[in-house]
Amino acid sequence: MVLTEVTGELIHIFDSARNVAVLTGAGVSAESGVPTFRGGGDATMWSWRGRPVTELSSAEMLATDPTLVWEWFDYRRGLLKELSPNPGHYALAEWEGRFENFALITQNIDDLHRAAGSMNLLELHGNIWRARCLRCSSTFEARESPLEQNPPLCLVCGGPSRPDVVLFGESLPEGVFERAEEAASRADLFFVIGTSAVVYPAASLPIAAKQGGARIIEVNPERTDISILADVTVLGRAGEILPQFVTQRG
Ligand SMILES: NC(=O)c1ccc[n+]([C@@H]2O[C@H](COP(=O)([O-])OP(=O)(O)OC[C@H]3O[C@@H](n4cnc5c(N)ncnc54)[C@H](O)[C@@H]3O)[C@@H](O)[C@H]2O)c1
Ligand SMILES: [Zn+2]
Repeated sequence: MVLTEVTGELIHIFDSARNVAVLTGAGVSAESGVPTFRGGGDATMWSWRGRPVTELSSAEMLATDPTLVWEWFDYRRGLLKELSPNPGHYALAEWEGRFENFALITQNIDDLHRAAGSMNLLELHGNIWRARCLRCSSTFEARESPLEQNPPLCLVCGGPSRPDVVLFGESLPEGVFERAEEAASRADLFFVIGTSAVVYPAASLPIAAKQGGARIIEVNPERTDISILADVTVLGRAGEILPQFVTQRG
């Protein structure tokens, strides 16, 4: 079923849910001004300094030119630090306390869910404001922007660090995906918000939710590969649609 607004029936499903899990992608941050990779219109970023972003954000590039990788992330951090959460992020933060179990699973590294007040976050792809030591694997907050040092040095051992972000060609951080999968399988309501759902294994979470018996609600201005699986696709922007679940009471 395809809708363009949140109906009374959807609100009823929302209100009666007990175990809710949400998967977000770049689209939830689009209205904050964060460029998405694929689709979403106005702010798609493909390349920087003439190189495709997939090459800049890759394990291979980290191995050959870690300074360039940090420069690229430094550039993105510079864009992100000016941005704020939008009503979609705030709505999700507010949902956290409404259900017996609530899991917010994000593919975003931008920290905007946390900035909006979400506390139980499963960050599948890491966080752009964290660094990880290449020598001792400690992770630490590295918020200075622009960077004072490239690479930032480990607070524990002084070794060089890398962004604590999953790069193309790398696997997800241990444990996080398993927890996300568990939340998806246990959900009776699963939201897929602002993701083109083509990046695995994150894209397998809605399938796990469906197999576990969840209803799937998708929120995206465009139909995606997940739309076939979704019980309902609400065509619209996250910042406009998500607040309707709580405020539009008929
Ligand atoms: N904000 C970030 O941290 C960020 C930004 C870009 C890419 N990434 C990374 O790139 C990969 C991209 O996958 P992805 O699926 O998250 O993003 P994507 O760029 O592939 O897809 C974005 C999706 O959001 C939808 N969209 C656009 N505007 C929207 C809005 N206002 N409301 C709701 N949906 C909207 C688009 O139609 C599209 O389906 C992920 O691995 C992610 O880690 C992260
Ligand atoms: Zn270290």
